[in-house]
Amino acid sequence: MIGLTPALGWNSWNAFGLTVNDQKVRVAAKTMTDKLSAHGWTYVNMDDGWEAEFRTAAGEITPNKKFPDMKGLTDYVHSLGLKVGIYSSPGPQTCGGYLGSWQHEEQDAKTYGTWGIDYLKYDWCSYSQVTTSNPNLDDMKRPYQVMRVALDKISRDIMFSFCQYGMGDVWKWGAEIGGNSWRSTGDIEDTWSSMAGIGFKQTEDGPYAQPGHFNDPDMLVVGKVGWGDNQHNTRLSPDEQYTHISLWSLLSAPLLIGCDMGKLDKFTINLLTNDEVLAIDQDALGKSAQQLVKTDDYQLWFKDLEDGGKAVGIFNTSDKYQTIAINRNENGLAGYTKIRDVWQQKYIIADKNNYTAKVAPHGVVLVKFSK
Ligand code: GAL
Repeated sequence: MIGLTPALGWNSWNAFGLTVNDQKVRVAAKTMTDKLSAHGWTYVNMDDGWEAEFRTAAGEITPNKKFPDMKGLTDYVHSLGLKVGIYSSPGPQTCGGYLGSWQHEEQDAKTYGTWGIDYLKYDWCSYSQVTTSNPNLDDMKRPYQVMRVALDKISRDIMFSFCQYGMGDVWKWGAEIGGNSWRSTGDIEDTWSSMAGIGFKQTEDGPYAQPGHFNDPDMLVVGKVGWGDNQHNTRLSPDEQYTHISLWSLLSAPLLIGCDMGKLDKFTINLLTNDEVLAIDQDALGKSAQQLVKTDDYQLWFKDLEDGGKAVGIFNTSDKYQTIAINRNENGLAGYTKIRDVWQQKYIIADKNNYTAKVAPHGVVLVKFSK
């Protein structure tokens, strides 16, 4: 089995949209090795926009002129000790209007194998046009099953990431048909309402997260994003970015950086290289946190960890500072005597019964309780 912990990597979409090219992927890979891979970051994923307009006479998919040598590119990424991802759709066309894998699934899987691809994001898109107008569960599963069979026929392990925005409660059957992750939502944007709207809604799918099979609430919107030629700094405030990374880690979500890696600033690097935070995302139990407390102003999310500890996200969802108390006799915390502030990487001295945190507007205090 592969993908026992959620993928840590980069994806071109939130930064470059359809303007992705060979050079931008190389910059992402080089930056990952120079600045991030020591912390576990591994995948360098091309999203939509790499495909040529037509297949060859033999029906093979080829890259367009923005990717003059796909094998050369994957060799380069591998030479840095990293892994490479690609994107396609089970429909005739991708969401960006490029060629999809419809009726060429085996051929495409073989081509990916030849190129040395390690990760496939498979996006529903125009598959709607070739299935029934009201797809039932079997119809929804089918395209993913077909590609699963095709991937199993080649002699290469490829992480399989479903992207169909959560249709048919995909979390209930994604694992059974061989998905390593499945998108549970529509597309994220770099705003509080989008990020928080998605992140804090991941309650129903939580119980289905397990090693090898994870819910994917979409890619990160930190750093310089833009979905095209013009990037801007994420519109999330610094505190909102701490919330984003903390919540995604508590959810055991794939962490796919969605920014221009050539323009990583110090703040973003710090945000992405805190080993204690990443350890929560990568915890071997592979569980998703549960939302145990929700008020108009704050939420508490609890995640069981392999070492018996509990990671707790204390999220202030309001616009004002909040002082939030955790009762240490509730929510399974009895007997947990140690509290560590995970972002600050230091132990906290707290009152016996209550632990009280002052949390910034839209911010978080991420702690780990242990015995
Ligand atoms: C969307 C998908 C995005 C991106 C885009 C590419 O459907 O959710 O993450 O892959 O297609 O066209």
